[in-house]
Amino acid sequence: MTELELRDLRKTYRSRGRPPVEAVRGLDLLLRSGELLGLLGPSGCGKSTTLRMIAGLETVTGGDILVGGAPVTHLPAQRRNMGVAFENYALYPPLTVAENLAFGLKARGRRADADRRVAEMAERIGLTPLLDARPAGLSSGQKQRVALARALIREPDVLLLDEPLSHLDAAQRDTTRRELKRIQRDLGHTTILVTHDQEEALSLADRIAVMRDGVIQQLGTPYEIYDHPATVFVADFVGEPAINLLPATATADGHAARLSDVLELPLPVRAEAGRELIVGVRPEDWSLTGADGLPARVLAHEPLPESGLATLDLAGVDRPVTVLTGPDVRLAHDERVRLTADPRLTHVFDAATGESLR
Ligand SMILES: Nc1ncnc2c1ncn2[C@@H]1O[C@H](COP(=O)(O)OP(=O)(O)OP(=O)(O)O)[C@@H](O)[C@H]1O
Ligand SMILES: [Mg+2]
Repeated sequence: MTELELRDLRKTYRSRGRPPVEAVRGLDLLLRSGELLGLLGPSGCGKSTTLRMIAGLETVTGGDILVGGAPVTHLPAQRRNMGVAFENYALYPPLTVAENLAFGLKARGRRADADRRVAEMAERIGLTPLLDARPAGLSSGQKQRVALARALIREPDVLLLDEPLSHLDAAQRDTTRRELKRIQRDLGHTTILVTHDQEEALSLADRIAVMRDGVIQQLGTPYEIYDHPATVFVADFVGEPAINLLPATATADGHAARLSDVLELPLPVRAEAGRELIVGVRPEDWSLTGADGLPARVLAHEPLPESGLATLDLAGVDRPVTVLTGPDVRLAHDERVRLTADPRLTHVFDAATGESLR
């Protein structure tokens, strides 16, 4: 049973002649034993730096890292018992795939059962036909799967995966992702997975942390993050196609948001009269029914495999609104429609702070 805890973890990169870069600015995080945390955030927000510090590949500027309650903050990487698969998989070029996989095991004096475990892991990750190949002869997707298998085979306390499937094609990514989840669950690795692929994070993770500028903006289950984004940033970052974010002002009675001179949207919470807001409605949360909806004009409608995506113009609103439609809906250019949003599914943020009003 291995908990992973970060306490006020910090990293400032300093290089001569350049201003310091505060890459990680005080992370507090407690992962339960066996939990899989998805770490999401835009490029440069500090995801890899965080993983490298936990792995012991980067020094820490401040704070602590605890594994099973014991600090490992200043232990060398090889004494942390962590499985690491980063995007730039460092395989040993002179060794075969099988030898690469066995390397960590043999170093730990488990030669006896190493061959059996290598064969077993190769089978699970689809590497059996490649066991005698050398890294130079592998595609980047194949190398990535070797790196993943090598991280898993050591049965580490903590598994740190930084974009581990980024070089795989869609089909391979699907099967490898499923196998990864199965192994992770079977063996109970406490895991942090960094990915740019939201679908990957939402489908694999027990909880998701959304990072921005070196801090965690929100930590929660995939449902919490998606259904109750704590900030405009999180609402905008999670979800594809992206949420509609519309500047608005609370009406005099505070029960609606004025989107333009002629349009109001009912609010799920009461806002102070005149307060500047950002109202968020996900494309799938609009409906095109109801005679008293907002009047809108169709700019475009593109069919998607299982639905359709409409772009609409709302009178007096300066940005187009996207709406997910049913697969059988047909909308013509310039067609007039009425748009309603269920207030229970409408998100409201303070325009100044970006924080949710709920
Ligand atoms: N070795 C380094 N020296 C100086 N600055 C660095 C170093 N490594 C990262 N940085 C800076 O620290 C910040 C965080 O970088 P990091 O690689 O952790 O981001 P990331 O979230 O992993 O981004 P990406 O999604 O692009 O991989 C960035 O501003 C980056 O430029
Ligand atoms: Mg990175």
